[in-house]
Amino acid sequence: MMTTVEIRNLQKSYGNLEIIRSADLAISSGEFVVLVGPSGCGKSTLLRCIAGLEPITGGNLLIDGDDMTVADPVKRGIAMVFQSYALYPHMTVAENIGFGLKIANAPKPEIRARVLEVAKLLKLEALLDRKPKALSGGQRQRVAIGRALARKPRIFLFDEPLSNLDASLRGEMRVELSKLHAQLGNTMIYVTHDQVEAMTLADRMVVMRQGVIEQVGAPLELFNNPVNRFVAGFLGQPPMNFIRFASASQAGQVMNGELPGGGRLTLDLPPAIGAVSTEGLELGVRPEDMAVSAAGALNATVEVVEQLGGETIVYGRLADGQALTAKLAGQAGIRAGDRLAFTIAHERLQIFDATGRNLRYRTEEAVTIERRGDLVERSPV
Ligand SMILES: Nc1ncnc2c1ncn2[C@@H]1O[C@H](COP(=O)(O)OP(=O)(O)O)[C@@H](O)[C@H]1O
Ligand SMILES: [Mg+2]
Repeated sequence: MMTTVEIRNLQKSYGNLEIIRSADLAISSGEFVVLVGPSGCGKSTLLRCIAGLEPITGGNLLIDGDDMTVADPVKRGIAMVFQSYALYPHMTVAENIGFGLKIANAPKPEIRARVLEVAKLLKLEALLDRKPKALSGGQRQRVAIGRALARKPRIFLFDEPLSNLDASLRGEMRVELSKLHAQLGNTMIYVTHDQVEAMTLADRMVVMRQGVIEQVGAPLELFNNPVNRFVAGFLGQPPMNFIRFASASQAGQVMNGELPGGGRLTLDLPPAIGAVSTEGLELGVRPEDMAVSAAGALNATVEVVEQLGGETIVYGRLADGQALTAKLAGQAGIRAGDRLAFTIAHERLQIFDATGRNLRYRTEEAVTIERRGDLVERSPV
């Protein structure tokens, strides 16, 4: 079954309040797309516009190439699963799962067969006669998913379906959802504010901020090649370090950076980047891309150490007071008060200009730069 979803210049306002500015997104058949971003950025609104639960202020929605901008929700072939489960408390699990088919006047034997099929898929067979109040949170969410599955929709929409579950159950359900998608092959659009959920479930992620799509791409593509400081800081835990640094001189395409505490960094910028203002530059370094070494250019005083068993998180401060977080493999013997020097994995660092844009995406052409190695340290300190 082919099901593509395309939104073109979609806008959504409530009165004068603009919620979605101008969203463009083309989703392929069978894709698992995750909309992710901070609370209030417009994820649910965008999902509800696709479902037809909210009228669209401007732009178009196409499903399988057909214009569905103003189509009735039921005509869109969409099923939606909510955070709140929204089960009918007086109905059994079987009745909840079969409810959509019942109101669509499907014959009873057909409903029964489909309910059993769905229950088997979601491992709910033993619970079919129970009422929702006799189920755990995870079981309730599976029933809500089952109710969406029963009607064989073309597209599944999920709005933070795991947010009410505790952490370990969330992890389990994440794996189950991945398996379900692999089994069914339907197009799925999933909303979450949880970057781990987004990274693990998505074929492609859509990172949103304040009603604007900031970047779209495969999880690792966004993690490795963030278009701006926002995307860079949103993905990764602990978050990327942003270190303000002075660029003492800039001869041609060579940038000489002075790091807090006297470390130096000399970078070759590819010609496509063009002239760079030396004002407001920030180095983006992920905590896991640093290593303790006497030769390191970043000197920090350790404030807090978290020993997680498999890894050690070090929270420190640079000479000028800027915070620095490092994630080291294993059980490093580091204590508060230690003074450490860190080297940076240069092939993985990013540089952001004063507007927050990644220098590697500074020009139209640079947007297509996907590989690392564009910013190279010439003379290691
Ligand atoms: N019915 C509404 N009327 C006015 N503002 C709304 C309405 N629904 C949502 N909003 C606003 O739209 C913004 C985006 O909300 P929402 O899509 O729910 O964000 P998210 O799901 O990303 O947390 C928020 O600022 C919210 O207050
Ligand atoms: Mg929401």
